[in-house]
Amino acid sequence: MIMKACIFDLDGVIVDTAKYHFLAWKKLADQLGVNFTYADNERLKGVSRMESLETILKSGNITLGEQEKEELAAKKNNWFVEYLDNMSANETLPGVVSFLDDLDNNRIWKAIGSASKNAVLALRKIGLEDRFDLIIDGTMVSRAKPDPEVFLKAATGLGLAPGQCLVFEDAHAGIQAAHNGKMKCVGVGNPDILGEADVVIDSFSNINWKTILKLLNTR
Ligand code: BG6
Ligand code: MG
Repeated sequence: MIMKACIFDLDGVIVDTAKYHFLAWKKLADQLGVNFTYADNERLKGVSRMESLETILKSGNITLGEQEKEELAAKKNNWFVEYLDNMSANETLPGVVSFLDDLDNNRIWKAIGSASKNAVLALRKIGLEDRFDLIIDGTMVSRAKPDPEVFLKAATGLGLAPGQCLVFEDAHAGIQAAHNGKMKCVGVGNPDILGEADVVIDSFSNINWKTILKLLNTR
């Protein structure tokens, strides 16, 4: 099937916000007295805010009521939004803008498929809010990755079949979501962590659409 669209995860693929999610969760975990490392964070990538909190609470054997959980999630989000407020276009990940330009030249649709409720805010901060044909974010879905809902909504919104869409992801849960939706997936980051993706690139630097198609066909 001919690829007609790219669906991008946002945090850690388009913009370097994955580090801010980590820093904000780390701050919360420290306050709760829960041990939380950079490696532990890998499991939270791509996962919704509440599910991430549940994972941290579980690893600290902490049981809380709904209201307390809401308060902790809001606390983490306030720290995260503070980081976003101070972010500039420099934090767009390397090669992203020229890759988007190349997709335009090849008439490939571009969508965002993100678990984040802050996706539009983050895109606005880096001046890329208007570069996508469609944005599906955490405010529009009810099931978190690895459920494919976010990517399937993007495909439907573009009027395409899943097989015509290629997902870009930096997270284990996101790659699974793409595959659960019968979409191919390019991992962006460390091949040791993202090995289950159909192909892995370390970044968009020196990557164009032709290279991606070649990598997909020769794997
Ligand atoms: C994903 C991030 O994109 O969005 C996760 O990888 C984050 O780390 C999730 O928890 C939800 O984001 P937010 O901004 O709605 O808390
Ligand atoms: Mg991500």
